[in-house]
Amino acid sequence: MIVRFIVTLSAIDFNKIKRIVSAVISMVKTTLSVIKADVGSLVGHHVVHPELLKVAEESLQKAKKSGLLHDYRVTNCGDDLELIMTHRKGEESAEIHKLAWDTFSKAARVAKDLGLYAAGQDLLSDAFSGNLKGMGPGFTEIEFEERASEPIIVFMADKTEPGAFNLPFYKIFADPFSSAGLVIDPKMHEGFIFQVLDVIKGHSYELSTPEESYDLLALIGTTGRYILKRIMRKSDRLVAASVSITKLSLIAGRYVGKDDPVAIVRAQHGLPAVGEVLEPFSFPHLVAGWMRGSHYGPMMPVAQRNAKCTRFDGPPRFVALGFQIKDSKLVGPADLFDDPAFDWTRWKALEVADYMRRHGPFMPERLGPEEMEYTTLPQVLEKLKGRIKKE
Ligand code: 13P
Ligand code: 13P
Ligand code: MG
Ligand code: MG
Repeated sequence: MIVRFIVTLSAIDFNKIKRIVSAVISMVKTTLSVIKADVGSLVGHHVVHPELLKVAEESLQKAKKSGLLHDYRVTNCGDDLELIMTHRKGEESAEIHKLAWDTFSKAARVAKDLGLYAAGQDLLSDAFSGNLKGMGPGFTEIEFEERASEPIIVFMADKTEPGAFNLPFYKIFADPFSSAGLVIDPKMHEGFIFQVLDVIKGHSYELSTPEESYDLLALIGTTGRYILKRIMRKSDRLVAASVSITKLSLIAGRYVGKDDPVAIVRAQHGLPAVGEVLEPFSFPHLVAGWMRGSHYGPMMPVAQRNAKCTRFDGPPRFVALGFQIKDSKLVGPADLFDDPAFDWTRWKALEVADYMRRHGPFMPERLGPEEMEYTTLPQVLEKLKGRIKKE
């Protein structure tokens, strides 16, 4: 009886202590949330209008004053309005997601008033219901205990899809010919765990590298379906990278624009160095998106001021903003692709853009039939139904 009492008591105490400890830890943990939406743009799908940036700035400024946010930056990647926010509310916080939703809604109203193109494009729901999942805006978040120095890189892309990060992120965290640290840094030497989401089935897998590299590549080579969602260091499961995984077309069931993704990568101190994180972006790999979300085009890394698509609504752009995070405050940004070291990549991208464009409406410039599902292709097939002849 006494023994049972002691056992029960210690179980209660243990749970209580665990709860208190996790509450204390969450008070000191920082969350970085990057939330984005295309709510309308200046001339077609080109850039976010300055008035929209102003509205977003005012909204986040107010949230910072109220204490909800610790810090923020408002920016854009082409026609996508980007909110970069730090706080202590944890991942998928209803308060933070509502703040982003309300901010985008206000900006969408301004876009409507100005007659901007595709005003409200990514707001697929009429009202906020607790979480941004399935509502249109893309988001990626990491909650972490700040290291003594916390370098992070926020990637933002326009005219492509979340799978566009598969190739460079594999190289950062699993290719020793790209990241030297995998070989020479003892903390990285064990490798990384990759969480892969099957966006069609809605379930995920965890694969461990280097030993399961070939299985991982077998999946993530299918960039439209298997998407890298999160990457953890194997030795302690520290979250090193996170990618937004919204698939707008799957939510809406029709073509509503590509799901221009955002991603966060933490760098240094037992994680890839900043230069190792950027190295794979020196290759302008082909990504799906570009004109009408229906073509393959080369990824072009650019300075934020050049994140504005023109030729054939492209080529797809990538921006990388570097920050140091200190006491939940953002120090920066450093515009990391604003460097002549990426000039060759940009020239190569233009050469590849030219080559791909010469195919016109033919594959592999145009996406394959499974990716064209939400465009006019089914309508064309429907129209021809009555004219089918058996061969
Ligand atoms: P519209 O048919 O309204 O021109 O939209 C197509 C589109 O946005 C692809 O760029
Ligand atoms: P966004 O996804 O950037 O809105 O672009 C859509 C498009 O169709 C460009 O041609
Ligand atoms: Mg757009
Ligand atoms: Mg866009």
